[in-house]
Amino acid sequence: MKAFSVEKLHYKYPNSKEDTIKGISFDIKEGEIFGLLGPSGAGKSTTQKILIKLLEGYSGNIQYFGKDLKAIGNSFYEEVGVGFEMPVHFSKMTALENMKFFSGFYKKIANVQELMERVGLWEHRNVRVGNYSKGMKVRLNFVRAMLNNPRVLFIDEVTNGLDPKNARIVKDIISEYRNQGGTVFLSTHLMNDVEQLCDRIAFCVNGNLYDVSTPRDLKLKYGKREVKIEYKEEKETASAVFPLEGIGMNDAFQNILKSKEIETIHSGETSMEDIFIIVTGGVQ
Ligand SMILES: Nc1ncnc2c1ncn2[C@@H]1O[C@H](COP(=O)(O)OP(=O)(O)OP(=O)(O)O)[C@@H](O)[C@H]1O
Ligand SMILES: [Mg+2]
Repeated sequence: MKAFSVEKLHYKYPNSKEDTIKGISFDIKEGEIFGLLGPSGAGKSTTQKILIKLLEGYSGNIQYFGKDLKAIGNSFYEEVGVGFEMPVHFSKMTALENMKFFSGFYKKIANVQELMERVGLWEHRNVRVGNYSKGMKVRLNFVRAMLNNPRVLFIDEVTNGLDPKNARIVKDIISEYRNQGGTVFLSTHLMNDVEQLCDRIAFCVNGNLYDVSTPRDLKLKYGKREVKIEYKEEKETASAVFPLEGIGMNDAFQNILKSKEIETIHSGETSMEDIFIIVTGGVQ
């Protein structure tokens, strides 16, 4: 089942001259984490805003679980959870008061205490959000996105501004949510999020989409397929690179293995960061 099916989506902001989204097509399958990657200004947040019905007046076709998105009423907001890239809270209210306020919009509510405990905010629940640190606001923003136990979760730059430990906690919650059947649309330019979370990704550059694929397939496509070996040579570290193709029959490689003290061996894994630069750099 497809959670979203997007075909030939175009969007132009009323005050801009050209289309910001230039005819993109992609699907988000139910139960997957779909990542939209791309440089600043590419159109990631705009795409998210269209999918959550915040921006209207697009052309093309968007289906949400088989129904035209334009024909779906306010029940849509019961089903989706949204984390905006800029946290939006009432700074004079405490964190818990904020969550109670936003919970008021929904019929079914997640366990707020449990969520706040997991992201380390329960003990700070009675602090005014204006006195929260940046990372605390980001975590609260995430709790807000999960408040209605959504069927589809939209998160824009979800770990931006979080330290590694808190980023891991948030990513674990997102993975668990997916493992329990949830669907996630994540937009980011942080490659760590992508590697650790996404089932499939697409690159968004200048309003177009490229390479909708799994992170693994992208690595195979752009990966260097070579082996780098570092070894001791007269008390110094020497290194050599061999093609992975036919490595078992490569005499020079075998000789090093047999005769030298090996320090490291790595296959030429191209990182997602390299791939990001190759894909987004090559098309602009
Ligand atoms: N309200 C608006 N009116 C006119 N143009 C806009 C508006 N919001 C965004 N844009 C433009 O649309 C383009 C895409 O912006 P968008 O916010 O979707 O980028 P993004 O991929 O999310 O970037 P970032 O990684 O910086 O968050 C940019 O050129 C931006 O200036
Ligand atoms: Mg954005």
